[in-house]
Amino acid sequence: MAYELIEVRTEAGKVGVVQLNRPKQLNALNNQLMDELGAALKAFDADPAIGCMVVTGSEKAFAAGADIGAMASYGFAEVYGGDYITRNWETIRQVRKPVIAAVSGFALGGGCELAMMCDFIIAADNARFGQPEIKLGIIPGAGGTQRLPRAVGKSKAMDMALTARMMDATEAERAGLVSRVVPLDKLMDEALGAALTICELPQLAVMAAKESVNRSFETGLSDGVMFERRLFHALFATADQKEGMDAFVGKRKPQFRHR
Ligand code: CAA
Repeated sequence: MAYELIEVRTEAGKVGVVQLNRPKQLNALNNQLMDELGAALKAFDADPAIGCMVVTGSEKAFAAGADIGAMASYGFAEVYGGDYITRNWETIRQVRKPVIAAVSGFALGGGCELAMMCDFIIAADNARFGQPEIKLGIIPGAGGTQRLPRAVGKSKAMDMALTARMMDATEAERAGLVSRVVPLDKLMDEALGAALTICELPQLAVMAAKESVNRSFETGLSDGVMFERRLFHALFATADQKEGMDAFVGKRKPQFRHR
């Protein structure tokens, strides 16, 4: 598939990088961009050479939200009946390998929601997160009212959704929205470093860890712990479990085969 609104590349033959590329609109997210992003991530996910993905934007904006110009004239028939806005936003949830959001600049509205759909967020020190939809007479529509409180708790999520104020990178890290904050010029190095670390680790265990952490958001504790235990037990059927433990006991470096 030829892409117009994203740039796609591979780093070190192992990390799939998707860069959102609508700079004049601050990477405002329209259906075409989200179709392309979904297709690129699914293609990387299906590629056995790829172990991890990074989604990033520009220095000024990861993404400034859904495309306001495109949806300004929509009515209920279009957005509900036609599912015009967020119909293709959850594709990212079908991706089984890890996806890291490398965020610099604005991550607002759908941009913040897109970052939260990724598995974790590494932020540049100029990153600003917000759910300002209330100023447009709407509310977040791609998971913001659901994922933000899970990430930062009710009080901050309410504050952001009700007042539209932005959170800077320091506050976002303190609140648990982002896992790391680095200087802007180190953002991609940090994200690629994390991605390469993941690529070196046993892929079946990586995928199981992602699946199990995600399950914690969907289920109660007892069912979640049971789900985790089944995956934990299943990993004892993998060659990499034997290799990892033999290597530890033998005080040597493991050679994982992702099997
Ligand atoms: N949609 C469409 N275009 C956008 C956009 C968006 N979400 N955000 C920015 N742009 C465009 C601007 O219209 C402007 O275009 P022109 O140069 O053609 O005028 C260009 O990007 C640059 O933007 P600004 O001139 O506004 O830049 P700034 O530095 O002064 O301000 C900003 C930056 C604070 C991010 C401001 O652009 C802004 O507030 N953007 C809107 C943020 C927003 O409300 N996001 C939520 C969208 S709704 C949503 O996402 C729903 C959902 O949950 C799915």
